[in-house]
Amino acid sequence: MLKTDILVIGSGIAGLTFAVKIAREFPDKTITILTKANTDETNTKYAQGGIAVVNDTEKDSFNKHVEDTLIAGDGLCNVDIVNMVVTEGPDRVNEIIEWGARFDKTNDGDYQRGKEGGHSENRILHHKDITGFEIERALVEEAKQYKNINIYNHWFVLDIITQHHLGYLVTKSTPDITCYGVYALNLNSNNVEKILAKCTLMASGGVGQVYRTTTNPKIATGDGIAMLYRAKARIENMEFIQFHPTALYEVGVSPSFLITEAVRGDGGILRNKEGVAFMPLYDTRADLAPRDVVARAIDSEMKRTGTEYVYLDCRQMDIDKFQSHFPNIYAKCRSIGIDVAEHMIPVAPAAHYCCGGIKADELGRSSIFNLYACGECASTGLHGANRLASNSLLEALVFAHRCAIDVGQKIEEISFNDEVPDWNASGTNDPKEMILITQSLKEMQQIMSDYVGIVRNDIRLERAMNRIDLLHYETEELYKSSTLSPHLCELRNLITIGYLVVKGAQFRKESRGLHYNTDYPEKSKLIQQVVL
Ligand code: FAD
Ligand code: SIN
Repeated sequence: MLKTDILVIGSGIAGLTFAVKIAREFPDKTITILTKANTDETNTKYAQGGIAVVNDTEKDSFNKHVEDTLIAGDGLCNVDIVNMVVTEGPDRVNEIIEWGARFDKTNDGDYQRGKEGGHSENRILHHKDITGFEIERALVEEAKQYKNINIYNHWFVLDIITQHHLGYLVTKSTPDITCYGVYALNLNSNNVEKILAKCTLMASGGVGQVYRTTTNPKIATGDGIAMLYRAKARIENMEFIQFHPTALYEVGVSPSFLITEAVRGDGGILRNKEGVAFMPLYDTRADLAPRDVVARAIDSEMKRTGTEYVYLDCRQMDIDKFQSHFPNIYAKCRSIGIDVAEHMIPVAPAAHYCCGGIKADELGRSSIFNLYACGECASTGLHGANRLASNSLLEALVFAHRCAIDVGQKIEEISFNDEVPDWNASGTNDPKEMILITQSLKEMQQIMSDYVGIVRNDIRLERAMNRIDLLHYETEELYKSSTLSPHLCELRNLITIGYLVVKGAQFRKESRGLHYNTDYPEKSKLIQQVVL
């Protein structure tokens, strides 16, 4: 058993930023970060394009960034939250610069500002095409400076602990559901440990692995959202899964390698099999339209021409500049025989980002007491029906700061709950056939990709739900009788995520942002958040 004042689940930008902030302000408080893999194995590490922020008020303005975010969000953003994130963003980005994160500069010392889809100005700060790697590096180094932060790698959090574990009936209408900590599988010892905490931050990242093709690493299995759904927290807007338009098309490679949108910001052009630059036919903003528009246009071109990819043409770009801004992409393409100066890059959309998640307020508080949510697992109202490119890292920084303020104000009033029982593992055995788990995972990803992709309709959603029901039943049976493994728990969580995405999609009888249903192609006049 472990006791910690503050527990953080996840070591990406959200978890680490929060932990550092608390550690600086409250050197007497213990902070424990649990992560199911190596510290830096996070979605954060793979972020490419950069971080959207207004730090040049001559050309750019908060109003423009707000406006761009609202347009991309297609009527579903919370305007107050958008204003808050955009205006607080510059201070938060300056903080991580002070902690050592480096962003590219021009020869005269000003920041280089890139452009991505949906942005009316150049405002993306970046570190070449490996911005996330640089941010994660700086944050891990900063976190290691504090004696009161302990990072435990390879600890898989199974469930958050609430009154339910003390034997009380907890339903969605229970008014005071409270988090007392978590049960976690220590993968180093294979024991399930009880960890008691006064406050817990869920910063467990995305859900991309629920689809067959995704830019997200293997850790992105929606564990936090699934756990909170089981604990009866409010989960919202899960139907808005963002597909990145340009993942590198490589048969059998998973996750897919991303070709950042910043390449189009610097002049890359999408072409179909016939060589036609098709984006102007779909939107006046052409290749720099918001992501939902570009991904749908690519999907439509692929279906029309019967291909599994389109091309990103960079041949007209200045190749020296390309190599200097995108060295990682250049090298990756080279490694598979593509010289971007001569050949077009085959690309296809891939599941990339979860716009919905654990409903969190302006201080990152979930609907469960003493439990905060931050980063990709949270739904704060910033992204609405479609996230504006490079707003995710910014959101994580702003909300990590806000969560830290609220936790700091409350922590003295909260005590540990010592009545929580240990984990009960009786009556379980090692699963006899691992294939049952791996096969079900493949099925799950296939169902989501085939029936719940970029373009949806009612029949497909119903099919998906029927199949998910069966997988759910089979996996729950296995879960009840098996000793726990990360694979089994991730499968179980992904099934819950699939269920939430389909349920949200079935509720939404309209097409808006990332959710496009051919049975309801219009936008409804009713602005509605789907809360499950
Ligand atoms: P993550 O960084 O994903 O961290 C999640 C953490 O939770 C990990 O440490 C993981 O081990 C831990 N965890 C999860 N489940 C458990 C569990 N059960 N037990 C214990 N630990 C657990 N956004 C931008 O704004 N700009 C970009 O340029 C950009 N580019 C991107 C490129 C790629 C390829 C990808 C995949 C995403 C990109 N994004 C970008 C999105 C952005 O990177 C993510 O949304 C953001 O980094 C999420 O940060 P996070 O801290 O919420 O989660
Ligand atoms: C990219 O670099 O294209 C990804 C940016 C993002 O996901 O915001």
